[in-house]
Amino acid sequence: MANTYQTLYERSLSDPDGFWSEVADDVHWFKRWDKVLDDTNIPYYRWFTGGVTNSCYNALDLHVDRCRGEQAALIYDSPVTGTVKTFTYLELLDNVARFAGVLQANGVEKGDRVVIYMPMIPETVIAMLACARIGAVHSVVFGGFAARELATRIDDARPKLIVSASCGIEGKKVIPYKPLLDAAIEQATAKPDKTIVFQRPQVNAAMTAGRDLDWQALMKDAQPVPCTPLAATDPLYILYTSGTTGVPKGVVRDNGGHLVALKWSMKNIYGVNPGEVFWAASDVGWVVGHSYIIYAPLFMGCTTVLYEGKPVGTPDPGAFWRVISQHKVSVMFTAPTAFRAIKREDPNGEFIRKYDLQHFRTLFLAGERCDPNTLHWAREQLNVPVIDHWWQTETGWAIGANCAGLGLSEVKPGSCARPVPGYNVQVLDENNNELPAGQIGTIAIKLPLPPGCLPTLWQNDEGFRNSYLTEFPGYYNTSDAGFIDDDNYLWVMSRTDDIINVAGHRLSTGAMEEVLSAHPDVAECAVLGVADKLKGEIPLGTIVLKAGVERNDAEIIGELIQMVRNKIGPVASFKIATVVKRLPKTRSGKILRGTMKKIADGMDYKVPATIDDPVILEEITADFKQLGYPRQQS
Ligand code: COA
Ligand code: AMP
Repeated sequence: MANTYQTLYERSLSDPDGFWSEVADDVHWFKRWDKVLDDTNIPYYRWFTGGVTNSCYNALDLHVDRCRGEQAALIYDSPVTGTVKTFTYLELLDNVARFAGVLQANGVEKGDRVVIYMPMIPETVIAMLACARIGAVHSVVFGGFAARELATRIDDARPKLIVSASCGIEGKKVIPYKPLLDAAIEQATAKPDKTIVFQRPQVNAAMTAGRDLDWQALMKDAQPVPCTPLAATDPLYILYTSGTTGVPKGVVRDNGGHLVALKWSMKNIYGVNPGEVFWAASDVGWVVGHSYIIYAPLFMGCTTVLYEGKPVGTPDPGAFWRVISQHKVSVMFTAPTAFRAIKREDPNGEFIRKYDLQHFRTLFLAGERCDPNTLHWAREQLNVPVIDHWWQTETGWAIGANCAGLGLSEVKPGSCARPVPGYNVQVLDENNNELPAGQIGTIAIKLPLPPGCLPTLWQNDEGFRNSYLTEFPGYYNTSDAGFIDDDNYLWVMSRTDDIINVAGHRLSTGAMEEVLSAHPDVAECAVLGVADKLKGEIPLGTIVLKAGVERNDAEIIGELIQMVRNKIGPVASFKIATVVKRLPKTRSGKILRGTMKKIADGMDYKVPATIDDPVILEEITADFKQLGYPRQQS
C-alpha cells in the first residue's frame, strides 16, 4: 500500500492534469470542465475552468438522488443544552433548500456575500449550505471574536445580509451574540441591508425593527429553491484568518477544486467510506469546521457530528468517548490541545474504559504540532493509530499526513508524515535554494498549489501575491519552518512570522501589539507566544510605559488585558503581561522577540551580535522570572 502512495504522489506531480481529472470524475458536474489546470495567468492558477457544478448539490441532493435520503447526514450533539438531534439527508436538504429560498426572498443573489456569526448549532450548517446552494459567498466569523474583529470582516466582505443567533454556549457560560453583532454593525461602514437572527431558548435577542428578521418566522412560509449552477472557479466562501498585521486575510475558496480535493481526501487521507460516521471536534468558525464538519463528510455521503461542547467539563473528560460510542464514530479529528485537556483530568484514561469504542478506527490531530507526549498518551489509551497532520486555513486540506486510505501508517512522533499527493513540498533557504534532507528552512510548496487551496485573497490579488508568492518566486510560502528527513517525513517546527497557535486557534501577536500600543500609558510593547502545557502557546505581553507614568503597573496591565478582550476577543487568551524598563533591540531598532521568547521558554540562546545593549537581556530574564517564567512544562 505504501507503494500506492508513492505512485500516486509521483503521478500527482508529474501529470497533474491526468491525476486530478480522474479524481474529478468522482463528483457531480452540470458541465464538465474545459481545462483541468488553467495556467494562462501565472501565478494565479485556476482549476477546472469551464466546469459547472454546485457544492450544495454534491453535499445533499446527489445523495438523496442516490438513495441516501434516509441516512443520517448530521448529528447535532449538544451536552450544553442536553440535546441530540439527527437530520437525515432528506431533512437537511429540505431545511437548506427552504433557507436558500429565504435568502433569495430577502434579496440575496449569486455572488452576494453573507456573513454568518453563529454558534455550533444546525442552523449554522443550514445557513452555509443555503448560501452554497444559490451561489452566495458565505463568510463565517468565529464566535470568540469581539465586535471590532467582526466589523473588520464585515467591511472587507461587504455582505448583503448577516445571519446570526441570539447566543452561543461555551461550557457553562451563555454568551449573548446579538449585542456583539449590533456593535459590529454600528462600527462597520458597510452596513448590511438585513440580518436574520435565530432565537435560541437561552436568550431572546432584542431585534431592530426594519433590519432584523426572525429565522423561525421566515422559515414557516419558506419556499425551497433549486441549486444554482456555478462555475468551478466561482467563490464558495471567504474565511478570514490572522495575518501579520491587525488586518485579517480573506482566504477565498472556489467551488470546483475544493469539491474535488475534499472528497478525495476523505477516502485517501482519512480512509473513510460513504455511510460511516466522521467527527471533527472543532468549530465551524475555523477552516477545520468548514472542511471537515461540513463539506468533506457530506460530499462523501458520511454522517457528520456537530458537537456543541468541550473536551472536558461537559460534563467530564469522558465527553469525547461518549460521543464516539453513542454515534459509532469511525474517524475523529481534533486538536492536540483537546487531548492535553483530557489527559490533565483523566491521566489514566479511566473515562475511556467506560465506553464501547469498537467502531473507532483512527484519530487525526492538527492545528498545532502534536507534542510526542500527547501523541504517545492518546495512542496507548485509545489503541488506534494517531495521525498528526499539517495544514493551514489557506490550503483548506492537509499538506502533510499519513494517508490512512493509502495505507501509510508509520508514525514518527513530532512529524506530520509525508507530503500529500498534489503538494510539491520543499524546504528553502533565504536564496530560494531547495535544501537537502535534514536541513531546516522555510517550508514552501512549489506552484501550482493543488485544487482546494486558495486561488487568491478576497478582492486582493496583489495582497495574495505579496503575502505568499513573492519571497520565494515559483513557490507558495507557508510561513512555517522545518525540515524533511531522509524518509521524506516532514517536521514542521515553528512559524517564521508573528502568528501563534493558542489552543489550536491561529492568532497574530502583531494584532495584539497594535491594541496594546493604543493605550495612553504604553510607549512600546512586544507580545510573544510562550509555551503553555495546555494550550501549546499563550501570548505574553511585555510593556514599556511612557516616561512619567506613575500609575500602578497592575492597574495598567488589567486595562490592557481588558482592551485585548474587547478589541480582539476572549479567544486571544491574553491574560499575562509585565511592565519592563526597556525592550532588547538590535542596533537598527528591531525588537528581539525571538530571543525574549527563548528566555521565557527557558531555552538556550545566543546573544545576537547585533544587539544594542546586552544588559537588557539580563533585566528581561529577571522580569520573566518574577512572572514565573520559564515554567515547568512537563
Ligand atoms: N464563542 C465565544 N467565546 C468563545 C468561543 C466561542 N465560540 N470559543 C472560545 N471562547 C472563549 C472561551 O470561553 C474562553 O473565554 P474565557 O477567557 O472567558 O474563559 C476564551 O475564548 C478562550 O477559549 P479557549 O482557548 O478555547 O480556552 P478554554 O479554556 O475555554 O478551553 C480547550 C480550552 C483546550 C478545552 C479548548 O480550547 C478546546 O476544546 N480546544 C479544542 C480544539 C479546537 O477546537 N481547535 C480548533 C482548531 S482544530
Ligand atoms: P490555521 O490556518 O489556523 O489552520 O493554522 C495553520 C498553522 O497552524 C500552520 O501554518 C502551522 O503553523 C500550524 N499547524 C497546523 N497543524 C500543524 C501540525 N500538524 N504541525 C505543526 N504545525 C501545525
